[in-house]
Amino acid sequence: MRPLLFAANWKMHIGPEDARAYFKTFRTRYQRHEGREAWFFPPALSVETAAQAVRERADMLVGVQDIYWEPKGAFTGAISAPLAVQAGARAALVGHSERRHVFGETDEDTRRKVAAALAADLAPVLCVGEKLAERDAGHTLAVVNRQLAGALGGLDAATLARITIAYEPVWAIGTGRNATPNDAAAVHKEIRAWLVARGAARTRILYGGSVNLKNAADLLAEHELDGVLVGGASLDPEAWAQLVQTAAA
Ligand code: PGA
Repeated sequence: MRPLLFAANWKMHIGPEDARAYFKTFRTRYQRHEGREAWFFPPALSVETAAQAVRERADMLVGVQDIYWEPKGAFTGAISAPLAVQAGARAALVGHSERRHVFGETDEDTRRKVAAALAADLAPVLCVGEKLAERDAGHTLAVVNRQLAGALGGLDAATLARITIAYEPVWAIGTGRNATPNDAAAVHKEIRAWLVARGAARTRILYGGSVNLKNAADLLAEHELDGVLVGGASLDPEAWAQLVQTAAA
């Protein structure tokens, strides 16, 4: 059994001071569940605070939302994988749709970022997903396959096993319109087939896009889903603790 993964993407919310208060609440509201992990992706400025807050919990870890692929140098404003590790990060989101579509990140960029994360021993969480027009044109699987090949093509099975995939249809992110469990499972099956063809049957595949307390249990009832990546519904520590606690009970 792959442990169920509940990943919180705080995006550009919750600074260090608020992160301290967040974990005070979350840690008391959420007790450890066997076979369940909670990962947190705060803004880079809050990573160290968050990592300290979870350091005694083997079921919780903290990651960064983005890294630059160079390990160091004159790259004003950028954060490298080794710097993130020094702050306590153990994972990194790569290719989130906001990075791709707001900041213009390419498949080639995601490939370099995955490699940089692996080199620093950060667990990459590669986000893939189609835009609405791409779905309407019937191109969902072509887009997802292109993103997988672009970021992960050429990696061997042992390396793919260190990676997590998050399927996040762009039209479902922050819109309140989640994919149905069936929609999600259909794409997860394709992603699974892509991984299995490369010997990586154990790689976890998360679903993301408007997951909340109301729909999480139905989505997680689909065995194709190994967890969820959640933005808006992870910002309130009580509601997020309740979601991690009760979904997939
Ligand atoms: P959302 O964001 O849960 O607010 O839709 C998900 C994500 O972007 O990872």
